[in-house]
Amino acid sequence: MPKPLKKAVLPVAGLGTRFLPATKALAKEMLPVVDKPLIQYAVEEARAAGIEQFCFVTGRGKTALVEHFDVAYELEATLRERSKTEALALLATTSMPPGSVMSVRQQVPLGLGHAIWCARAFVGDDPFAILLPDDLVLADVSWVKQLAEVYEQTGGNVVAVEEVPREHTSRYGILKVGHDDGRLVEVTGLVEKPKPEEAPSTLSIIGRYILLPEVIGELARFERGAGGEIQLTDAMARLIGRQPFHGLRCEGRRFDCGDKAGFLEAQIAFALKRPDLADKVRAFLGRYV
Ligand code: G1P
Repeated sequence: MPKPLKKAVLPVAGLGTRFLPATKALAKEMLPVVDKPLIQYAVEEARAAGIEQFCFVTGRGKTALVEHFDVAYELEATLRERSKTEALALLATTSMPPGSVMSVRQQVPLGLGHAIWCARAFVGDDPFAILLPDDLVLADVSWVKQLAEVYEQTGGNVVAVEEVPREHTSRYGILKVGHDDGRLVEVTGLVEKPKPEEAPSTLSIIGRYILLPEVIGELARFERGAGGEIQLTDAMARLIGRQPFHGLRCEGRRFDCGDKAGFLEAQIAFALKRPDLADKVRAFLGRYV
């Protein structure tokens, strides 16, 4: 029996420059899709997989992310006084058990791998999930839960994967693929952001991972990779052959909310899933296309 998966690390120190000016004084992970911030989608997805402890790797100007999951005592009292039951119920979706959210600072932007290394004391000797809140998932079953099922079977590392157009390989971590049953893929190599002509496949890593704690030791080598950054992909690549390593084509849709068009598409897709909004949205969409 592999160790139970209870921890998740959420790297949220990024500057969000692609969404300026909106992100000048606002953390990009607080941008809402319909009415919920990106960070909350990620936390809910992890909790649906049984994750109980969260570590946000933050930076300057990111305190709102931790605040979002705190008790807003005055707001709650006011809503109660005014019998705003619906609003109170919405507020309750952000309440977390005491002591379940912690944050560490990544003081310098040295890359995703460095951000994860900053959470080393939180990770300790346990397996952990990583969720990149920019990758927003619309699925019947939480992607972390789908990955967790593979982890329980293999006891190894597992990442969410998706086919991307070859011209986009330089935006992702790309897999070298071994045995592939159409859903679960054996990972035989990993390359961060390869040029299309050098990519070993077009199967890319999406921002959901379940990793064994040994990856932290590999990150601690502080080797610079693509873009001069300490890359998580490079540290993971060094675990291949020593530990089981798989990619899973998860069921559901993923939206790249780090990209303006992807973010807008997510708004539409999530709004169309909402009983209170779907008809209105469908009606007005026709006026634009
Ligand atoms: C990161 C990872 C990359 C992965 C991607 C998924 O890249 O380094 O391997 O494919 O997330 O969204 P970033 O988007 O931070 O450049």
